[in-house]
Amino acid sequence: MNLLELAKSAALAAGRLQRENFSQKISIRHKGEIDLVTEIDLASERLISDILALSGLPILGEEEVKTKPQGTYWLVDPLDGTTNYAHGFPWFAPSIALMQDKIPLLGVVYHVMMDELFWAEKGQGAFLNGRPLKVSAQESLSQALLATGFPYNVHDQPEPVVGAFRAFLVRAQGIRRAGAAALDLAYVACGRLDGFWEILLKPWDTAAGVLLVREAKGQVSDFLGQPYDPFVPHIVASNGKIHAEMISIASSYTP
Ligand code: IPD
Ligand code: CA
Ligand code: CA
Repeated sequence: MNLLELAKSAALAAGRLQRENFSQKISIRHKGEIDLVTEIDLASERLISDILALSGLPILGEEEVKTKPQGTYWLVDPLDGTTNYAHGFPWFAPSIALMQDKIPLLGVVYHVMMDELFWAEKGQGAFLNGRPLKVSAQESLSQALLATGFPYNVHDQPEPVVGAFRAFLVRAQGIRRAGAAALDLAYVACGRLDGFWEILLKPWDTAAGVLLVREAKGQVSDFLGQPYDPFVPHIVASNGKIHAEMISIASSYTP
């Protein structure tokens, strides 16, 4: 099986597990004050790792599977949207990227409850259930629908998050906070959103979704407009047309 098909089968298998256990009684523990992990996050990561292990490549996962982020390796968020999952809010996704050092080569994001499989291959385009994706054509921030997320340290350091949120709120047409960064990026790629920003993300939150946006002809950078680096925690992704306007706002809130 080629590596893209392997990543798709791992995302679909984790998605099945997540769907079967959705809204069931599951064990949940705290990694931080508002940062949760459920038994399904852990079981999903094991399932995905077992499947990806067939490639012989090392895996860096959010929860338990750790390798050095060097060379060619898999980067895995087994369940992006854990807070949603724990509350029975049907908005979450496994997110899997194949990396070459800091560059995503493959990306798969599975919107489980909508049965929407997003994937992208570097230089080969982005797809949703087999249909090619293109970002939106919106040229004006004042007519744009944006998304963002709030980091787990927001109780301690709300200022940059609230500041950026306020600044975008008074400029954009609308803002959504659905709770899964990988899906926010997938939604930019397919044109349902025009842009996305967030302050404290991890590489497994962004890598697969970033490739989706790039391959759908969108643009991704950090808050200062510098090229995407999975280990820089702040990110702006857009259809490209509103990127400069978004950076002009985000750059004042660089953490
Ligand atoms: C979180 C989600 C959320 C974002 C957080 C992430 P998790 O990932 O992507 O939308 O706002 O910053 O940490 O913990 O659900 O995998
Ligand atoms: Ca995540
Ligand atoms: Ca996660």
